[in-house]
Amino acid sequence: MEGEWLLIKIYAHRGYSDKYPENTMVAFQAAVDYGADGIEFDVQLTKDNVPVVIHDLTVDRTTTGSGRVRDLTVRELKEFSAGAWFGERFDSQKISTLEEVLAWAMGNSIMLNIELKGVVTDREEMIAAILSILKKFDCEDRLILSSFDHPTIQSLTEEAPLIEMAIIVASALFKPEEYLRRLKIRGYHFSHISLREEEIRGMIYNGFRLRPYTVNEDQLIKQFINSGCDALFTDKVERAVKIRNRWIKNRSFVRRKD
Ligand code: G3P
Ligand code: MG
Repeated sequence: MEGEWLLIKIYAHRGYSDKYPENTMVAFQAAVDYGADGIEFDVQLTKDNVPVVIHDLTVDRTTTGSGRVRDLTVRELKEFSAGAWFGERFDSQKISTLEEVLAWAMGNSIMLNIELKGVVTDREEMIAAILSILKKFDCEDRLILSSFDHPTIQSLTEEAPLIEMAIIVASALFKPEEYLRRLKIRGYHFSHISLREEEIRGMIYNGFRLRPYTVNEDQLIKQFINSGCDALFTDKVERAVKIRNRWIKNRSFVRRKD
């Protein structure tokens, strides 16, 4: 049989963030428990150059603290609750370091998409900090590194050629395949409204690994299951896993050429 049959994977966006506080250990464990294939989470640098797991540049929205992550040390960040904003029962959740999340991941087999955030002026520090943490863990084949900052991903491609890299885009690019070839990157994480179906199929056929974000509505989840994308990012993990598992019975999948 020619080609590879593609079964879409479900990645928990910021963990199971529909039901648990985003980017916390309880959200990641819930993703595992509800059958996600992977988790996506965001990483920022602290004042002491430690990669920690939080989406925003400041701690204000998702913790009991205030201020820029980059202006606070890990020790200071650990004082805050990262779950109380979502519900009292999550009060004990703290901001995790990347190292803590990877240590936890050694006890399961979930795929890990680390999204590098931060500001471009900290690019070199971020790359160095990430590479030094990753060296401590044997998980290259379970990792995807991604970022809206494409120069970061381009540098990492050279520094860590065995790890899968992806660029993230929020809007429709002009000739995305040419751009990806120039960067020597296969992973394309795109806002689900930025590509048409025929463009998605064309890119997949040509070997690119597409993953749309953030796919939460049932109808959209169904649409993407049949798209040939490698994975989709969703907040609604339980629902997406259920829809995907129900759907795969007796269906055929889009194929990529050999
Ligand atoms: O990595 C895909 C998606 O997470 C990018 O957007 O803002 O949710 O990090 P954001
Ligand atoms: Mg993200």
